[in-house]
Amino acid sequence: MSVTRSVIVGSGSYLPKKIVTNEDLAKFVDTSDEWIRQRTGIEQRHFAAEGEFTSELGYKAALEAIKSAGIDAQEIDLIICGTATPDNTFPATSVAIQNMLGIHHGAAFDLQAVCSGFVFALSTADMYLRCGKAKTALVIGAETFSRILDFEDRTTCVLFGDGAGAVVLRAEEGTGEVSDRGILTSHLRSDGRHKEKLYVDGGPSTTQTTGHLRMEGKEVFKHAVGMITDVIIDAFNETGLDANDLDWFVPHQANKRIIDASAKKLNIAPEKVVTTVNLHGNTSAASIPLALDTAVKDGRIKKGDLVLFEAMGGGFTWGSILLRW
Ligand code: ACO
Repeated sequence: MSVTRSVIVGSGSYLPKKIVTNEDLAKFVDTSDEWIRQRTGIEQRHFAAEGEFTSELGYKAALEAIKSAGIDAQEIDLIICGTATPDNTFPATSVAIQNMLGIHHGAAFDLQAVCSGFVFALSTADMYLRCGKAKTALVIGAETFSRILDFEDRTTCVLFGDGAGAVVLRAEEGTGEVSDRGILTSHLRSDGRHKEKLYVDGGPSTTQTTGHLRMEGKEVFKHAVGMITDVIIDAFNETGLDANDLDWFVPHQANKRIIDASAKKLNIAPEKVVTTVNLHGNTSAASIPLALDTAVKDGRIKKGDLVLFEAMGGGFTWGSILLRW
């Protein structure tokens, strides 16, 4: 049976120049390199320069993705940017990126699912492509979380960083079998009963300020592994594939302990796990495309490989995507 598959044909990423190590943070936050490494696996993160906005990070990642796809930017007829740190309340950051790319047709919109933003955006783009509503989509995860951190709160400010990643997704014909290239299945979930566990204490309708990130770290940790593994099991059940079939696991990069515990619970071998949290910190919606692009550039992920994405974040929101590269 002939079906439409959304195939990732290019990827790109961008990290701001400024690297902030744990030691750098310890100069003005009551913390230590040892504490951060031990609890999270993070060694450093990147922070955007003053005047460097989420749209610019997203634009630079998008340029690389378009180049690696070998397409003309004008072929793109859908742009979705996952971000919780937009340039402005409105218009959407994706529209700014669309304009920077010189694209003035098709649709561009932001998707707000915090750390799950890229998985939600990719799944949404997949639906557009499979329905025939778009042919070539640019999906971006771009964040400047450094702008919403409270540097007086050591329990949260050491965890996050800035960056962007992007992929170009193209509608291609498949057979309907799991041997097809492209997205094989995606599973998204949300449960607002957990909204107080990870949130920003400001917004246009509440305080008219941007606000700062607040988190009950232990609560997030407690739920993360179960939620992540549930949606991955859904992906395996739907496709008949399992952890042994996987070539690469590219999880959201929040915390090495969460990544290791999820991989262990799913029997995913450690050498199949792509980890960049040590170098990037948690870049929210940007973390998966940043990790993905790292593993594509260094030659680990190759055409035909079975790749699994998962993410979990504020809301809570969580989801998985299983695809063949
Ligand atoms: N430096 C030094 N000490 C610290 C720091 C810090 N940055 N932060 C907290 N502490 C201290 C606390 O004050 C506490 O001290 P006390 O025992 O004297 O009271 C001690 O360390 C232990 O604090 P806990 O909060 O119990 O530390 P925990 O082991 O739970 O680790 C952490 C905290 C790393 C946040 C953990 O809960 C976690 O990883 N949670 C997951 C959260 C996460 O990754 N969120 C990302 C967004 S959601 C997502 O993307 C999935």
